[in-house]
Order: sequence, then structure tokens, then C-alpha cells
Amino acid sequence: MDTEKPRILTGIRPTGSLHLGHYGGALENWLKLQKEYDCFFLIADYQVSDYAENIDNIREWVIEIAIDWLSVGLDPDISHFAIESLIPEHTELTTWLSWWVPLGRLQRNPTLKSEMTDLGESVPVAFFNYPVMQVANILMPRAHLVPVGEDQLPHIEMTREIARRFNRLFGNDKEIFPVPKALVGRIPRLVGIDGPDAKMSKSKNNAIWLKDDSETVTKKVMRMYTDPSRLRATDPGHVEGNPVFMYHDAFNPDIDEVEDLKKRYVLGKVGDVEVKTKLANALNQLMDPWRDRRDYFETHPELVIEALRSGTEHYRDKAQETMEMVRSALKLDYLQKD
Ligand code: TRP
Repeated sequence: MDTEKPRILTGIRPTGSLHLGHYGGALENWLKLQKEYDCFFLIADYQVSDYAENIDNIREWVIEIAIDWLSVGLDPDISHFAIESLIPEHTELTTWLSWWVPLGRLQRNPTLKSEMTDLGESVPVAFFNYPVMQVANILMPRAHLVPVGEDQLPHIEMTREIARRFNRLFGNDKEIFPVPKALVGRIPRLVGIDGPDAKMSKSKNNAIWLKDDSETVTKKVMRMYTDPSRLRATDPGHVEGNPVFMYHDAFNPDIDEVEDLKKRYVLGKVGDVEVKTKLANALNQLMDPWRDRRDYFETHPELVIEALRSGTEHYRDKAQETMEMVRSALKLDYLQKD
């Protein structure tokens, strides 16, 4: 299916299942955009560190992520779900592009910088190249728009620079690669349930996963961190920096209810239990349709594989088309001369 729609490429590394932060920061946008754009959704398994230590987990996470996508309503009949490593054209493009990325440019990338400080001397060579591979992902289907979380913005900026440079060096005034734009989701950063500065992680069990059932969600909301200075329901409370209200703002569509709760919270006229019960209800209402779809796909695993198979095939066709253009721009036509 080829369309004239503008294209989206975005991706996720298979490092675990997805949580509400992924939904508010990215997936919600993907869902809105999948009808207007020709969407390529990539599971970026070339870009996980500790592959050797985690190989079996990664294999599970790839499938889990596909199920997470299907359960929120991404539609494999109109969008293309793909597994990066099964499209080896990525490595070819990455190799070429990395000649036009100064190492200093990567060393200044803030995401890379912070990850690298943790690794020190043992940083793998591939680590320097993973942002370049992300650039190759975006350029591969010649994407126009990249809906991502806020932390990815430096990588998209680099993609724009490389696309421009490649077009200038090899395009002969033609645009080979569109210069893509980033689109950040409505909730750029969601805190964990255990505090306003908490980053969500598997080991801390402080996230609400897309796959959590309603009982689990309610339990997690009930133990959510609120305002530590408030001991009784009659104490005036703080709304700012309070994760329970951050989640209300992010996911409760009933704005009047949220405003009323906030007003009463500040005055000490509402208990935590009411605020949390209302949040749990709002979350469960959002998540119930996901659960129905998840049940369906978990009992039809062949449909999950089929979504990945057909999406990867379509992606690969597109990749080959792009690589023909790239090879021709790079004058790699040695064997075609007669
Ligand atoms: N690096 C991204 C992340 O860690 C995932 C990713 C891989 C991606 N390839 C991409 C995002 C291409 C956008 C476009 O979340």
C-alpha cells in the first residue's frame, strides 16, 4: 500500500513494556496521527545496550511492545510495525552517514553525555553510533515528522543537520531526504508514582504499565505519593509538585472535577482517598478499551506476529527504494556501466 500521505517514523527501544509515560508522551500522538500520515513504527533492537546479557528478555519485550501498541489502538492495517534488525539497510545507511557526523557533535549530545558518564572507559564503540542509527531510522522511509518524547529532541536536531548536509553534498540541488520535524507529546515528562522527582523504572516498580489490570491500577494509585506535609484531610494541601494531581491533569478528561478537587485540596476540604479514587476511575476508564484489545491479541498471538511481519516487509520495500536513491547519489554504480 503506497500512499501520497506525508510520512512518520518513530521508534522505541525494546527495554521493557510500556507505561503511561510512553502513552502521554508519545503513543497518544501516534494514535491521532496514524490516519493522516503513513506511519512507520519501529522497534529499535539494534540500539539496546547489554544485548548479550538480555537477549531472551529483549525477545519478549519486542513482542510485548507490539502488543502494547495494538492494545492502545495502533492499527497495523494502516501503519507499519517493524523490527529494526530485520531491515539491515539501516546498517548500510548508518555506515555512510557516520562519515558526516563529527565525533565532537556526538560528544556534545546531552542524552549521550549523561549515559556515557555512567559507562566511562567501558563505553562500547556502538554507543557512539546509536544516535546516527536513529538518524538512519528516520531518514530510511524519508519521514517528514517524528513524534517523540522530549528527551529525544537533540537526536532529531542532529537528524535535520545530517539530512541537510547529505542533500547539499549529494543531492545536486534535489532533496533526497526531507528535513524532518519533531513533535513532542502533550505530557513531555511523567513522574513515577513514588514522588515528584522519580524517574519511572521496572526495578522501582513505580510506573503504571499499559498492561496493568484495573485492580493493580487502583492499588498503585492508592499508594501514590502525595503531599508529605499534609497529615490530615483537614490540613491545607499542595497541588503543585503533587504526583496525584499531575496524573489528574494528564489523564482525567473531567476538567471540572479536577478543578473542584484542587480547590478543596488547598483548603483542606477533601481527603486523599477521594482524590485518589477519582484518579483511579479516570485511569481505568481510559485503559478499559486497551484491556479488551489486549485480551483479544493475547489469545491470537499469530495476529501479533502477522502485524510485525507485514509491517517489516513493507518497511523493507521502502528501505530498498531509499537505498537505491542513496547508492545512486553516492555514485555506487560500478557494475551498472556498459
Ligand atoms: N532512541 C529512542 C529512544 O530511546 C528510540 C528510537 C530509535 C527512535 N529509533 C528512533 C525514536 C527513531 C524516534 C525515531 O526512545
